[in-house]
Amino acid sequence: MSDKPADPVDTIQEAAQDPSDASSEVETRVSILFALMQRNLAEKDIPNENRNDFIQVIKNADFISKQAGAPIIEQGSPGNLLYVIFEGDAVGATSDGGTAFFEKGTIVGHMPPLADEPCCISLTAGDKGVSLLAIKKKNLTRYPVVYRSLLGRGLSIRGAACDYELGDKLGEGLNGPVFEIKGHKLAAKIYRDCMGDGVEPSAVIPEHILQLKNPNIVSIHETVSAYGSQFIIMDIVSGLSIKQNNGAATRCRTLRQMIDAFRSEQQRVSLDMTARIFRHVAAALLYIHEQGFVHRDVKPEHIFIDVRDNDIIFQLSDFSLAFPISTRPGKIVGTPHYCPPEAIDIDRPETVISGSADFYSLAAVCYELLTDQTVFDSLNVLELAQKHLDAEPDLLRLPVDTPIWMGRFIEQALQKDPARRPLRPDIENLIAVA
Ligand SMILES: Nc1ncnc2c1ncn2[C@@H]1O[C@H](COP(=O)(O)OP(=O)(O)OP(=O)(O)O)[C@@H](O)[C@H]1O
Ligand SMILES: [Mg+2]
Repeated sequence: MSDKPADPVDTIQEAAQDPSDASSEVETRVSILFALMQRNLAEKDIPNENRNDFIQVIKNADFISKQAGAPIIEQGSPGNLLYVIFEGDAVGATSDGGTAFFEKGTIVGHMPPLADEPCCISLTAGDKGVSLLAIKKKNLTRYPVVYRSLLGRGLSIRGAACDYELGDKLGEGLNGPVFEIKGHKLAAKIYRDCMGDGVEPSAVIPEHILQLKNPNIVSIHETVSAYGSQFIIMDIVSGLSIKQNNGAATRCRTLRQMIDAFRSEQQRVSLDMTARIFRHVAAALLYIHEQGFVHRDVKPEHIFIDVRDNDIIFQLSDFSLAFPISTRPGKIVGTPHYCPPEAIDIDRPETVISGSADFYSLAAVCYELLTDQTVFDSLNVLELAQKHLDAEPDLLRLPVDTPIWMGRFIEQALQKDPARRPLRPDIENLIAVA
């Protein structure tokens, strides 16, 4: 007997041979199809709470069987169905004379329903015939979780000047997954929040943000509306490989990942590296302020790491909260651990968010790098916010070898009153000495 767990796809044959329990047969079929879909989706880990949506889609779909050689999809026909091959296999023919084989478990033809385009291949049943689950587009769009899970590797997106093919997944943020783009030094972030039932997704990045170009900023090239979603096409960062004591290397693409990698080895980001992070992010901030924007969400997750010619470059990213400098905020936004008091106490009539708000956040990042603790902490967000409003940061926690300029920057930039924080010429001087 083999120790290998039974493949759920192979067990269908046995389950289907016992006609005594029709409902358990349906359940078995559903769970096998669920396993099959999961195996082929960009997002491998479907959270339990979303499992039911997949089950519903499968239950609402049609189960069809075709004999060897029978046509399944005709090229040019409306792309309103996608298929999951359940048993047997199928052969696809493309318009340029190419042939592709699709085996048990493959999801076929998901691009046309996602893109609202006609089918680009013809598909016929393979030598032994084929059984398929045919899922209607209407069925998919009713369950956005399932629909967007199909967005991923292999998808092609039409940009202004060229097509982008999604490659491997680079990571996942709250708003959606990020993929590398094959053949380009670019990455695509899919904005999940924009998925709707046939509703045109709204632009997530205002045009003026696309104009921001600086060596210390992750440039956004364009935003593309496709498959009912928004894709943000931006520069890809290489990240930095950090070697661990056990010999394994961790690729860190963000400062948060770098902090975590060092922490897992009971180490800290070095003073030299902290000075470099300050110089690069401060330069990015001076640039965007000059262009008339405040970032409003400076934090380790938004500081990316690129390596060019052996030089480590930190780049500011994610401008989704950026807004015109010295404007009154409409609501409280940002990340509690890095949020300046004026972005919290927004009801005061004189409150505007100036560039010094971003330097408050950068000082909070530097403090964390030096002390391995956030400036303020609490499990309660309101209490944390209150500390930004009236608690004094504990500067005695800064290590004794903290450079004097860095200690002074942290102390001054963390002032509650924005007018008492360093001015642009002060920051320019610090960048020169850092
Ligand atoms: N331009 C990029 N180049 C390389 N990797 C990237 C890029 N953008 C994002 N990533 C990877 O994807 C992960 C998620 O990025 P994302 O910007 O979505 O994170 P987030 O800011 O935490 O989430 P969100 O903005 O959705 O709340 C990053 O931690 C990083 O590993
Ligand atoms: Mg973000």
